[in-house]
Amino acid sequence: MQSAPLQVAGNRVTLEPGRSLRGEVTVPGDKSISHRALLFGAIAQGATTIHGMLAAEDPRSTADCLRAMGVAISPLGGRGQPVVVEGVGLDGLQEPGDVLNCGNSGTTMRLLLGLLAGCKGRYFVLTGDASLRQRPMGRVGHPLCQTMGASIHGRANGTLAPLGVNGCQLQGGVIGTSVASAQVKSALLLAGLGASSSVSVIEPSRSRDHSERMLKAFGADVRVNGDYNRHVRLTPGQPLRGQEIHVPGDISSAAFWLVGAAVTPGSRIRLPHVGLNPTRTGVLDVLQTMGGQLRVENRKQITGEPVGDLTVDHGPLGPFSIGPDLVPRLVDEIPALAVAALFAEGVSRIHGARELRVKETDRLAVMTRQLRAMGAVVEETEDGLVIEGPQKLRGAQLSSETDHRVAMSLALAALNAQGPSRIQGADAAAVSYPGFWQQLGRLQEAGGQ
Ligand code: S3P
Repeated sequence: MQSAPLQVAGNRVTLEPGRSLRGEVTVPGDKSISHRALLFGAIAQGATTIHGMLAAEDPRSTADCLRAMGVAISPLGGRGQPVVVEGVGLDGLQEPGDVLNCGNSGTTMRLLLGLLAGCKGRYFVLTGDASLRQRPMGRVGHPLCQTMGASIHGRANGTLAPLGVNGCQLQGGVIGTSVASAQVKSALLLAGLGASSSVSVIEPSRSRDHSERMLKAFGADVRVNGDYNRHVRLTPGQPLRGQEIHVPGDISSAAFWLVGAAVTPGSRIRLPHVGLNPTRTGVLDVLQTMGGQLRVENRKQITGEPVGDLTVDHGPLGPFSIGPDLVPRLVDEIPALAVAALFAEGVSRIHGARELRVKETDRLAVMTRQLRAMGAVVEETEDGLVIEGPQKLRGAQLSSETDHRVAMSLALAALNAQGPSRIQGADAAAVSYPGFWQQLGRLQEAGGQ
């Protein structure tokens, strides 16, 4: 009898190449939208009901932190059951009796820093896992303290967790951010909700706008303008009211199947109901530039977010070029796109992507190291990668180096290598995509040889 092409043993996955990927995948709910639905629901008046919530480790960190501050939230991941958040109002979060643990989640820590900075008379300490404790928090703490009057303290001049937050009355202001980061922008908007005057955030280029869309839906006074909608102003005073939210599938999770099908011979994958917010669809633009066989159908809007069904087939691919303007629209998809570049005919270039060095891992360094272990030729630059394809890869002993998106991207390379690969730390995928490995096994079974 032939062995299964994918085997999971503890935190290790063994993958045999040579199968096509075929079938339909309902990807889990959008991670960014799930965090925001929990956070905004918690500080709204009345209940918020969330359908299609992502029941993964990152949003669980947000939910657990909110519960520790007295917010009732029904269990995440009850079979098809929506998650209900009983809002406590803007000033209703209680001082927790212990440290708030944000786990691996930068979104949890940065958005909470903004929200808690204005919780007058309460003290909070935020920490996270070894990766999160090394990630830069000054990009949020600095404008909160310098412009809005927040009090945040910690190692390295208050830029590294664990961080102590002394909640106080904040003031508004105009803040120009040096990086296009939705986490920074969202933290400042959350801080603005209770500030004494409006807060304006001006980004160097536009980051994902889920916070603006959802805050408006909850009733906040949020205005977006300026060239390329880079200026966002929130004027405090409007109460947030609980909402019914439908979370679309996460395009960042769909990206693994888009690239997986595009590079694996004989593959076809259909992905219904994926979020197509234009601030997130850079990966579709790149695949189209590469000549990828991609179709988008049934476009519609759900709770203020565009969605649609995607179908992708294997086919010949050309190279791509990603520069700083495009990076914010596909920042989390670069590891998967690096794998796509290996199988494309020509030289692909990514630059202006220095932000990848401060994600869950230094993704430029980690992807280069891991792909080289498969014999890949990858040039790592200060702010990007240069990859000439097509390349022949050999199966190898690989590691996620604890990074969920690295784990899933390496799987796509392993599927198209010569010989089996073993990925250590494959369990990291559960940070954003529980069930990823089982889903991959099903697609391989349906694909056959
Ligand atoms: C996120 C924003 C992005 C992204 C992260 C989620 C969000 O980070 O990489 O996975 O939910 O706001 P930055 O804001 O740091 O670019």
